[in-house]
Amino acid sequence: MEKGKVQIFDTTLRDGEQVPGCKLNKEQKIIIAKRLDELGVDVIEAGFPISSPGDFEAVEAIAKIVKNATVCGLTRAVEKDIEVAAQALKYAKKPRIHTGIGTSDSHIKYKFNASKDEIIERAVKAVSFAKKFVDDVEFYAEDAGRTDNAFLAQVCSEVVAAGATVLNIPDTTGYCLPEEYGAKIKYLTEHVRGIEKAILSCHCHNDLGLATANSIAGVMNGARQVECTINGIGERAGNTSLEEVVMILRQHPTLGLDTNINSKLLNEMSHLVSESMGMLVQPNKAIVGANAFAHSSGIHQDGVIKNRETYEIINPEDVGVTESSIILTARSGRAALAYRAKKIGYELTKLQLDVVYQEFLKIADRKKEVVDEDVHRIIENNKIGI
Ligand code: KIV
Ligand code: ZN
Repeated sequence: MEKGKVQIFDTTLRDGEQVPGCKLNKEQKIIIAKRLDELGVDVIEAGFPISSPGDFEAVEAIAKIVKNATVCGLTRAVEKDIEVAAQALKYAKKPRIHTGIGTSDSHIKYKFNASKDEIIERAVKAVSFAKKFVDDVEFYAEDAGRTDNAFLAQVCSEVVAAGATVLNIPDTTGYCLPEEYGAKIKYLTEHVRGIEKAILSCHCHNDLGLATANSIAGVMNGARQVECTINGIGERAGNTSLEEVVMILRQHPTLGLDTNINSKLLNEMSHLVSESMGMLVQPNKAIVGANAFAHSSGIHQDGVIKNRETYEIINPEDVGVTESSIILTARSGRAALAYRAKKIGYELTKLQLDVVYQEFLKIADRKKEVVDEDVHRIIENNKIGI
């Protein structure tokens, strides 16, 4: 793998699709998978083939049409799951089986009622079995965020010896702090036997709003794959947001890390997923929210009009947004009003602007947002347009 390259593993169609009430049909999944491939993701987790006939068919259909990305299917550490995933992936150019088991004390005790040795045995068996079907086998240690590091390193060492190519370290419950998650990844780079044969992957949930921060801490400490979803959708509070990770790495070149993502397609991708799932994106969502490049206070508007970089760290065109927007409200100043008036064809003198601005403030106090039609009307009513 290229030095400094972070693989993007998109799980919108698997972990993302676990959002209550947001099921996608097969056709919608195929459209999203095609667009993810064009976006430049390295891996598309297309589903959990054993979970239902519909999911099997969707994974199979995606495996057939994806041209560049690896196509991956999730399984438990169960032979039947692995067989079915292998079957669903048989047409993929680059198939990957993603298998694993819970490794934290609570998973071992309550979910499996097993011993640590039994967990290692099941993990190794699952990876070895998956290797019979595909070369590329990713292992997940579910609830790794709350798993003791020494045991985690032991499990990882054993599955690498069995042929795992990727070690997924999920913070399944979104519990870790960035420093803690970063230290966990660092510990694994130093303590997993044979780690040079595999890459470490971050899979973080957002229960405390830390999924992106934890994933970034992970890659800063040696992980080379991030598992994420478009718009950060996923179980409960969601998963790491793909667009955030991509743009954080791009805006901080000193980290020496980057992805293969064509960021200009991010905005369109966000809309596609939001509309297909009927799941609105919060307006203040970083990178893809409706307000991510909207300026509404007078001080900020004046600054952005003079030079975009005063209040914007990302060029909106880099994520597929045509331009920043200046929203006219009662907090806007003359600069913003003159700017919007010019956009709709009026070049106002200072005197004209003074008159229009007084009228504008009256309307702005009544309405939440003054739109272009209002500006047009104020200017025409005052017969000062040119
Ligand atoms: O959050 C998690 O632990 C998962 C695994 C199944 C990979 O989604
Ligand atoms: Zn998950």
